[in-house]
Amino acid sequence: MTDRYCVFGHPVGHSKSPAIHSAFARQTGEDIEYRAIEAPRDDFIGAWRDFVASGGRGANVTVPFKEDAFRLCDRLSPGAERAGAVNTLILGRDGRVFGDTTDGVGLVADMKRHGVALAGARVLVLGAGGAVRGVLAPLLAEGPSRLSVVNRTAAKAVALARDFADLGAIDGGGFDALAGPYDVVINGTSASLAGDLPPLPEALFAPQACAYDMMYGAEPTVFLAWAAPRGARVIDGLGMLVEQAAASFAQWRGVTPATDRVLADLRSQLQG
Ligand code: ATR
Repeated sequence: MTDRYCVFGHPVGHSKSPAIHSAFARQTGEDIEYRAIEAPRDDFIGAWRDFVASGGRGANVTVPFKEDAFRLCDRLSPGAERAGAVNTLILGRDGRVFGDTTDGVGLVADMKRHGVALAGARVLVLGAGGAVRGVLAPLLAEGPSRLSVVNRTAAKAVALARDFADLGAIDGGGFDALAGPYDVVINGTSASLAGDLPPLPEALFAPQACAYDMMYGAEPTVFLAWAAPRGARVIDGLGMLVEQAAASFAQWRGVTPATDRVLADLRSQLQG
């Protein structure tokens, strides 16, 4: 029987994961089926069990189930343990469920593909929600000279910095604590979704700085549209999406797909 994979979300109809994983499967010759499943908000575990009973071998997990997925795992990667969230479920041969998070690895891989230097860089991360928690460990592992987290609700950024302090030089605060310039500024808030711009000072970017938005769209996000005329090199989160998918695929199938072509195809579809 063909091995089955899926992405669980709610809603999940617009997910690009089925297209990405189908392209990876064609490219690598892996015989898999991948689809999107809208799980009931109050019964993620039931949806996962049904999926496994129908031949499911693994899954991606997106909003709002990343914490539910974390709780159902028998074993967790160190990254998932830190993040308190899981975006990749893997069913072991023994029937036990292993959970990992590939979002942060995907972000770092995309930055590397763009030649963005993180080692020794002054890095600023905007936001302190689940999305940011999931990427801090891989960012710190690259050895920035300092990583500052700022958030509208300052206390959340302070708490996050405390949780990750053993991994590197990290601090947290409110937007009033910004002390630029920064070499890399990553927008991990959901402000872009509402078309909002976090309150940012004019002199945010160092020369040759990179502005990265974890969101993406057909048009530049509000943050990137603000950053470009202020001299930053701008990158949106579409590449992160493809890279996190590649890392999940590699966990399931033991083969790492190439991402450039898949990303280029997605970009042209997005821009229609
Ligand atoms: P996610 O899973 O996307 O991280 P989340 O956990 O709800 O979602 O976190 C959303 C993040 O975006 C938070 O850091 C939030 O700031 P608060 O903690 O102060 O709520 C941030 N955010 C959302 N809308 C924002 C806006 N208009 N301006 C600035 N920050 C915003």
